[in-house]
Amino acid sequence: MTVSWASPAQASNPRVIVRGTVVHAVQRTYTDGINGQTVFTYHARLKGLEPDTVVEYTVTADNDHARAHPFSSSFRTAPRGRASFRFTSYGDLSTPVTTWVLSSPQSRFAVDAVERFAPLFHLLNGDLCYANLNFAAQPEVWADFGRNVERSAAKRPWMPCPGNHEIEFGNGPQGYASYLTRYALPDNETAFSGLWYRFQVGSVLFISLCADDVIYQDSGAFNAGPEPLVPAPVTGNPPIPPGTSIYNHGYSGGAQTRWLEATLAAAAADAGIDWIVVQMHQDSLSSSKFGNGSDKGIREVWLPLFDRYGVDLVLCGHDHDYERSWPVRGCNRHVGRDATSGAPVDTCQPQPVITADPPGGRFDTRLGTIHLILGGGGTSAPLDAYGINPQNGRPQAKVITKPNRPVPGASPGTFTKAGADAVEDAIWSARRDTQTGYGIAVFDVDPGTADGQTSIKIGYYHALGADRSPTSRYELFDSLVLAKDRRRENQA
Ligand SMILES: [Fe+2]
Ligand SMILES: [Fe+2]
Repeated sequence: MTVSWASPAQASNPRVIVRGTVVHAVQRTYTDGINGQTVFTYHARLKGLEPDTVVEYTVTADNDHARAHPFSSSFRTAPRGRASFRFTSYGDLSTPVTTWVLSSPQSRFAVDAVERFAPLFHLLNGDLCYANLNFAAQPEVWADFGRNVERSAAKRPWMPCPGNHEIEFGNGPQGYASYLTRYALPDNETAFSGLWYRFQVGSVLFISLCADDVIYQDSGAFNAGPEPLVPAPVTGNPPIPPGTSIYNHGYSGGAQTRWLEATLAAAAADAGIDWIVVQMHQDSLSSSKFGNGSDKGIREVWLPLFDRYGVDLVLCGHDHDYERSWPVRGCNRHVGRDATSGAPVDTCQPQPVITADPPGGRFDTRLGTIHLILGGGGTSAPLDAYGINPQNGRPQAKVITKPNRPVPGASPGTFTKAGADAVEDAIWSARRDTQTGYGIAVFDVDPGTADGQTSIKIGYYHALGADRSPTSRYELFDSLVLAKDRRRENQA
């Protein structure tokens, strides 16, 4: 377990104390390329912990203002071997400080919701705080985000993946310097460590991906104009002209997809892995009406791997709503249409293997992968409207099939980006929450018995009414069970 924190000034002898043992923290810093502020972060890696045990710890430094009563908390380590455990997920959290773009008081209740369900860990699937929409104040937004999540993240791991709003002007070649400085994540042994990783709990393999690498849509840092963005003189950085965006498509040169395939192939050969859960930020199966929609880039590059190696669940955010797909495998070619001309377009429409609830409500994800959109963390822009095909009344999805780089806007010096360029019938869409965009998904893993079935019970709880006024009440909206025969140790 790594204990990480950020500090407004440099810490002297930063450390974590566990049962009288001092663990020194490693310092990582970056200087924000727009306002010139230096951020100090500290990471103390605790080794040799016992499984399934509560560990109390204290964080301090020689120049800690609170040295008399330093910050203390505790966490529980993961159980060893096949065991029951709970995890939770959502993305698109923001901060409770409403001066920041896309922040909302609901993000406070969203953190409380994680504590209510008390998971072993929480998967935070991208768009953490939207610092990149607040150019001159990126480090301050991150600080408000940290203050909000601390009361949960100090007690259980919050395992993130990067979203488009983690891509910041001035901060590294792909704009991830702030994210990468703040999180100490499992190594992926590539030049892009921290952006994607894997970890295993019980018989569940969790794979966290950075979809910015494969999506077509251009949704990172963007100066829409008409003024250039002028960094503080102390940074020495030149102005960023209107129309500039950071477009990370293909940034890893295929390294991430090669790593993913190798990771999935190893999992297929490992009889100790019953389930594969993937988190990423952007969506390959979303029929949101006003959100981004589905991205063909993920469908082309990663869905075939999910099919080949039997990924069970894909958890995303990005569109600020809740949508669940039927289990999908393979895709139908050339059934989409151009959003403007109506001409045929190949959207790689995912193919559902069933389109009704299975007997007993138990889904067998060996037949197909279920995708969940969980973008209702806590932003001020929740969504609850979905596409309908005007011809047949069936669910319809927007699909992004090509790059939408900035183009000149209506007034001089301004720039804009086109929305999705294609549509398709969302034959894969099983459930859409039209009441509120806000919610949290809760997953209970049951390892089952040696010759029996293992299962994951999924409950999605939504915050009814939160779109009008923030609320702490999260009620069950959708539930399902994934079940399959447990793998035997001698079965590859
Ligand atoms: Fe978002
Ligand atoms: Fe996003």
